[in-house]
Order: sequence, then C-alpha cells, then structure tokens
Amino acid sequence: KTYDELYRPQFHFSPEKNWMNDPDGLVYYDGEYHLFYQYNPNGNEWGYMHWGHAVSTDLVHWKNLPIAIYPDNNSTDKVKCTAWSGSAIVDKNNITGLQEGNYKTLLAFYTSRGCGQRLAYSNDKGRTWKKYAGNPIIPEAPGEETRDPKVFWYKPGNHWVLVLYRMPGGDKAKEGISIYNSTDLVHWTFESHVTGYYECPDLFSLPLDGDSTKMKWALLGGDGSYMLGDFDGKHFTPKSGKKVLDYGQNFYATQTWSNAPDGKRIQIAWMRESKYPGMPFTGQMSFPTELSLKSTPDGPRIVRTPVGSISSLYGKKMDKTDKNIIPGLKNNNLLKGIHSECFRITGVFDVKSSNMFGITVRKSRKDAGTEISYDVKRQVLTSIGSQMPLAPVNNKIKLDILVDRASIEIFANNGEKVITDNFTPAEKADDMELWTRGGEIMVDSLEVRELKSIWK
Ligand code: FRU
Repeated sequence: KTYDELYRPQFHFSPEKNWMNDPDGLVYYDGEYHLFYQYNPNGNEWGYMHWGHAVSTDLVHWKNLPIAIYPDNNSTDKVKCTAWSGSAIVDKNNITGLQEGNYKTLLAFYTSRGCGQRLAYSNDKGRTWKKYAGNPIIPEAPGEETRDPKVFWYKPGNHWVLVLYRMPGGDKAKEGISIYNSTDLVHWTFESHVTGYYECPDLFSLPLDGDSTKMKWALLGGDGSYMLGDFDGKHFTPKSGKKVLDYGQNFYATQTWSNAPDGKRIQIAWMRESKYPGMPFTGQMSFPTELSLKSTPDGPRIVRTPVGSISSLYGKKMDKTDKNIIPGLKNNNLLKGIHSECFRITGVFDVKSSNMFGITVRKSRKDAGTEISYDVKRQVLTSIGSQMPLAPVNNKIKLDILVDRASIEIFANNGEKVITDNFTPAEKADDMELWTRGGEIMVDSLEVRELKSIWK
C-alpha cells in the first residue's frame, strides 16, 4: 500500500516514489508552507534534478503537488542545467514587476547546474512556475563551483541579501559562502566571502533568550554547523567558533522557512545517506524544528525543538504507570507492555546514582532492537553509531525522542543537543525497554505518545 511500506516514514515527508535530497524554496505564503525538494523523476538514485513540491498548513501533514521547476535549456542531461538547490521568497511589494493577478509573486532562486543562478516565479501560489526572461541572474564564472542561493530581506539596509556556496576561482582552499546585495532582486552585487563552509548556506538572526534587543546572527553551512556573529548587510563577522547543530549521521542541507508566521525560524533538513531497502523511494526530510538561541554555560547556542503541531498526531498516551515519580527504578522496565512503531518518548531522568541507562526501541523477542544509551561517567549519549557529549543539569538528563519507521531523532536537554539518524528496524518489532546498568536510575517523569500517520 502507498505510504504504508516497511520503511515508509509515517510522520516525516518522503516522496511517493523516486529519489529526493535537499529541501528547497521553503516559503510560507497565504496559509501554506511550501516544501520544494531535489527530485529525480526518472529513478531512485541521484541525478536529473527537478524541484518536487508539497504544501502543508501545519508543517506536519503534506499534500503532494506536481513538479515545480524543470531543468533549463530543455536539458535531458543527468547534471547539465538541472535544477539544483535554492530558496524562495514572497515578492510582497511587486519589486520585480512580475505579479499578474491578485496573488503576490513567489520567487524561486535556484542553481541551474553549470548554467548560473536563476530565477523562476509563480503567480498562482506556487502551482505553476515560469522562468525569468533575464536568466541567469548571477552567471557562473568559468571554472567555479557555485550553488544553493538563499535570499532574504535585510531591513536595516533596505535591501535583499543572497548567500551562495562558492569556490572562488575553483580554489578549494577558498571554498565558502559569498554574500551578495540587491535592491531589485535581479541585479546582484558581490560584497564579501566567508571561508570554511560547504554547500547550502543559510543566514538569519535570532533573539538571545527571547530578548529582541539582543539579536545575534548565525551563518550555517550544509551540515547545519554554524558560527554566531555580527552582520551589517554586507559582511558577516564571526564571534564564535564553529558549532555543531546535529550529532547524527543523517542530517544535511538544512534550510529555514522564509516569511514564517510570528517571526518563527523553522528548519528542516534532508536525512542524507539514509537507507530504505526495497522501497520505491529514497530520502526523507527531518521533522521540522523551531530554532531559538539560548545562553548556556558554554556560551549562546542554537536550540532545536520539534514544531508544536506534532501534537495533532498524538494518539494514545501509553503511560502504563500513570505515575510521574518513580524513584529508584532498578531492573524494572517501565515501558514493558507498551507496543508501538511510531511514537514520541519524553522523560526526565535523575542520573545521580546511575552508571548507565537507556531506552531500547523497536525490539521483539527475536530482535535486540535499537539502543539509545547514556553513559553517566563519560557524559555521552550514544545511538546507532552516533555519539554526543551531554552533561546533566542538576543531575538530570531530559530526553525527547521521535521514533518513526525509518528514523530516530533525539532532542536532549530541551533541544540543546540533537541526534538525527536513520535506521531500518525489524518488521513488527514494537517492544520497548527502559533499562539501567550498574546503579539505579531515578525517573522523574516518563511519557510515551503514539504518533499517527500523516498520510491517512
Ligand atoms: C547538497 C547538494 C547541493 C546541490 C544539490 C544537488 O546535498 O549537493 O549543494 O545544490 O545537492 O542535488
């Protein structure tokens, strides 16, 4: 059955069939979140990139739409002039003059591989797209690798900014992000370049601890790693070292929504290199997260939490104990008797007298399942080959875990540390276990929520 296969994500976006990679053109307009994505309509492997398209009103339930952007110059080549990654904005004041009816024009800035940065536009809320007659808007210099334009409005300077992954002069040592300015969205002037980044740049500001008088800028690369700093519209000045946004194996090509309601900064990523044996599709998106900037003992950090509309998927609350405080749990699986393939576990664990504890999911009498474990002495959380440093706060570790049919996302300590991983659990294995080794674990709270399919 469609969208019900063994490794088919039930609450993450995936294409019905064929290959998908990066999220593209994330923009909110007229009640809809648009999700475009790198898509190969010809098969289940990378190549022949088009922009696939889906929309959502809540960032959780997605409706598939026809392909939005096709390769340029009628190319049927696997690479040449195909539609690589980029971003989208709403042309609210019709600066481009491309508006035809009552809807604002949606503008998509994308890389036509080897054929420059290009503009496509839509007059019907993203349903159909035309190519701008003056393309390319930024031609590619010979011998250069240039891609993944992300465009946003810079209010203090009254101009737009475009950040672009670039290898100036084809020199690998200079690889990084170039910053361009424009006042008409089609003529772009090079301003500056920051080295040390690879692919899919994003640049935005966030209020520190929710205080809008303390805005800080973050410049992100493809793997989500970022530096915090100052931005004057033309130059980004780093004020921090490079920080990790995700410790998992399958988190890449991050992008945040343009024009999201209430100034929210919402991010999604492609779960790179994920495996889906025997499936008609390859690729899924991470679950959308809201970003915020929080002071930590190590300095300000970007924090990620699953968007609140996830609660629309809540099924049964599968808390057998119905107790919130279970002191001194020892060899006592509180998750015994709970069965699920797709669920959210939230828990607060006091690790004062524990050496190691963990949660094992998707297990059965025959299958060992997949272990998420915390080593109290080393202060390391491990899951599916990913490891991340994680210090208890007042002896407590807080976990928020999303388990889908082919992925596990772990948000630790209120989203300060995150692991995004793909896995291929055994069919029908739906037991789970909370365990402790060497010492007791104090469970302050524990809740399991069934998550319903978004495709039904
Ligand atoms: C990142 C990326 C982008 C490029 C796209 C091509 O995964 O390599 O830099 O635009 O994929 O599909």
